[in-house]
Amino acid sequence: MGLLDGRVAVVTGAGHGIGRGHALELAKEGAKVVVNDLGTTLSGEGEGKDADLTVELIEQRGGEAVANYANVTDFDAVGGLIDQAVTEFGRLDIVVNNAGIARDAAIWNMTEADWDAVIDVHLKGTFVPTHHAVNHWRALNKKGEDVSSGRIINTTSGAGLTGNFGQANYTAAKMGIAAFTMTVSLEVFKLGVTVNCIGPAGATRMAASIPGAGIEAKEPDEFDEWNPMDPSLSSPVVAWLASDKAGHVTGQIIRAVKDEIVLMQPWSNGPSIKKASKRWEASELTALMNADLFNCRAPGLRY
Ligand SMILES: NC(=O)c1ccc[n+]([C@@H]2O[C@H](COP(=O)([O-])OP(=O)(O)OC[C@H]3O[C@@H](n4cnc5c(N)ncnc54)[C@H](O)[C@@H]3O)[C@@H](O)[C@H]2O)c1
Repeated sequence: MGLLDGRVAVVTGAGHGIGRGHALELAKEGAKVVVNDLGTTLSGEGEGKDADLTVELIEQRGGEAVANYANVTDFDAVGGLIDQAVTEFGRLDIVVNNAGIARDAAIWNMTEADWDAVIDVHLKGTFVPTHHAVNHWRALNKKGEDVSSGRIINTTSGAGLTGNFGQANYTAAKMGIAAFTMTVSLEVFKLGVTVNCIGPAGATRMAASIPGAGIEAKEPDEFDEWNPMDPSLSSPVVAWLASDKAGHVTGQIIRAVKDEIVLMQPWSNGPSIKKASKRWEASELTALMNADLFNCRAPGLRY
């Protein structure tokens, strides 16, 4: 008995890296998997049938999977991806939005194309499958069907939640995905569908591209024992979130890095100052802001 017996999942960007790890894990837990991948380079160029590699691995291990080569930003093609899950396997329960690219550059060197491509694949590439999947579940729900097995699992990153030099495009997209997760979780709450976000890590080609990190890119199936760089270490959390056992968990941002699972806290109010229904004067703010908001008396310090 697997946690996901009878479930059908779509995993985007599952030809390599972290997405491949998720697809293998979901299949191991009994789900049938549509393995989506456009087969691009790290910077999002070209196309290929890289999804086939993951399908083969799943089949070799006794699972069921089919490949899909759609670009996650292509609205109509992703409608086809959602339809494919239903026509091939009879239903859709789980969408893992994982596909991603990187085009790192400090803001002064970042081109318009670098910005657009990264925002497009991560942010629009999360919106489009979510939109189609939710419409699929809403239509079933209107016919009286129970769609509470519906699960959306998005992908953020530690860098996106805290900021990282050279990644204005990537971090903006990843923080945006966290906000998207929280909003959509509210919108689909009544359907019983959950929407959560995972922050993974691992020695993929994306991680290996970080200058000076000294990381060698490897696929999850190249690790046969526990290794802190294995890109599939967050996959059990994805499988759990996808299961019935996590039906009460929604709108959450969870990082799963190495052997640690961390619940991220959403933005919350910090220290504040108030002025009894009067407009602030800019000139009075220096002392108050430094003392009461930034807890310092040295205006030279940066916060
Ligand atoms: N590797 C890490 O340490 C790390 C850390 C935090 C978050 N992430 C996130 O995890 C996800 C997977 O990254 P990875 O490290 O496995 O990278 P990866 O490059 O190994 O895999 C990404 C996959 O996405 C596919 N892809 C790219 N653009 C696509 C598109 N438009 N449509 C469909 N597929 C597309 C690629 O072909 C590739 O197979 C990304 O969202 C990434 O931002 C990775």
